[in-house]
Amino acid sequence: MTISQTGAPSDAIEAEELHGAHNYAPLPVVLSHGEGVWVHDADGRRYFDALSAYSALNFGHRHPRLVRAATEQLGRLTLTSRAFHNDQLGAFCAELAAFTGTDRVLPMNTGAEAVETGIKLARKWGYERKGVEPGRAEIVVCTGNFHGRTTTIVGFSDDPLAHDGFGPYAPGFVLVPYGDAGALRKAIGPNTVGFLVEPVQGEAGVIIPPDGYLAAVRSICDEAGVLLIADEVQSGLGRTGRRFACDHEDVRADLYLLGKALGGGILPVSAVVGTDEVLSVLRPGEHGSTFGGNPLACAVGREVIRLLADGSLAAESGALGDAAAARLRAAGHPAVREVRQRGLWLGIELFEHAPTARQASERLMERGVLAKDTHETTLRLAPPLTVTPDELDWALERLDDVLAGLL
Ligand SMILES: Cc1ncc(COP(=O)(O)O)c(C=O)c1O
Repeated sequence: MTISQTGAPSDAIEAEELHGAHNYAPLPVVLSHGEGVWVHDADGRRYFDALSAYSALNFGHRHPRLVRAATEQLGRLTLTSRAFHNDQLGAFCAELAAFTGTDRVLPMNTGAEAVETGIKLARKWGYERKGVEPGRAEIVVCTGNFHGRTTTIVGFSDDPLAHDGFGPYAPGFVLVPYGDAGALRKAIGPNTVGFLVEPVQGEAGVIIPPDGYLAAVRSICDEAGVLLIADEVQSGLGRTGRRFACDHEDVRADLYLLGKALGGGILPVSAVVGTDEVLSVLRPGEHGSTFGGNPLACAVGREVIRLLADGSLAAESGALGDAAAARLRAAGHPAVREVRQRGLWLGIELFEHAPTARQASERLMERGVLAKDTHETTLRLAPPLTVTPDELDWALERLDDVLAGLL
């Protein structure tokens, strides 16, 4: 096969089909340009990006301030490794610690790496501070969890697609029903070091736990001397209308796992932020990453923090999300069983007898809106937080059309 110079869509898809591993099933659209909430395909067709790369594009495509921060840094210094200091890392750590109200920051790259780091920190803290017998630490996790794709992480997933076929699995994880604080209390034993939880489960379909769950979990962890590890890789940094999804219940985690939007949609940047008591258990040589804390990532991350600092982006986008959910619920589309929402993050649950969420995504794409299904029946929407009311209206009109036509 020859690949055309223009990268015409059919060629691009065919090349991926033939030579890429088939670990994704993308919608048949080939994007070549993006700005704000809009992306264009190779034929110049424009689409509203209602997925935002699973919230990695909370500030839209090529936000001018983020592009400027990256470009300036590209012109100075990109990578040092942690063998040397660089002039961005200290400021990034200080600013992220201040923004999150914590003591220390450990920078990594992908969300899964932040989760792995959180697991290592919790275990080490358990052995050194809590006195758990070596090799016996346990971490409680939730049904429906999605924390990434490493072998350790998929080992405690209850989604057969993520889990099956990749064993042997790492021991030391105990699964409890999501949203059930009593089940957490029962699962905690003398070797429990942490409770790893998504305050809103994104990949499971924007699942919001019952009111009071996070606060209950916080006090259970306090009583038992167990670390509350909030995976806010997807839910954090403004996506739910607040800085963190935990903020909705005024809950403070011991460790926050951050990723996605921290890289401004430009490069992968993740971090574990938390208390000195926990982060100080790591000593030189015990953990690290060649790219973690690189100056380019830190420069972009610092601008991300500045964009979020006064809370207005989160609050305003949250209000847009509230209005969008109210509008969708009021429409009472026969195909829609439920609309779940927190901030500008919506899970539209379709009835099983309706067309699948994948089919709904395809119809949306035909009308110029890119969204993604999850688990057959959920259409998930997470537009950039920078969307204007008019732009969102444009997308919601098309969504209304598609939902109305499903049944
Ligand atoms: C809650 C959560 N944690 C971790 C991850 C993994 O992030 P990454 O794909 O950057 O490894 C994801 C990705 O979707 C996520 O939603």
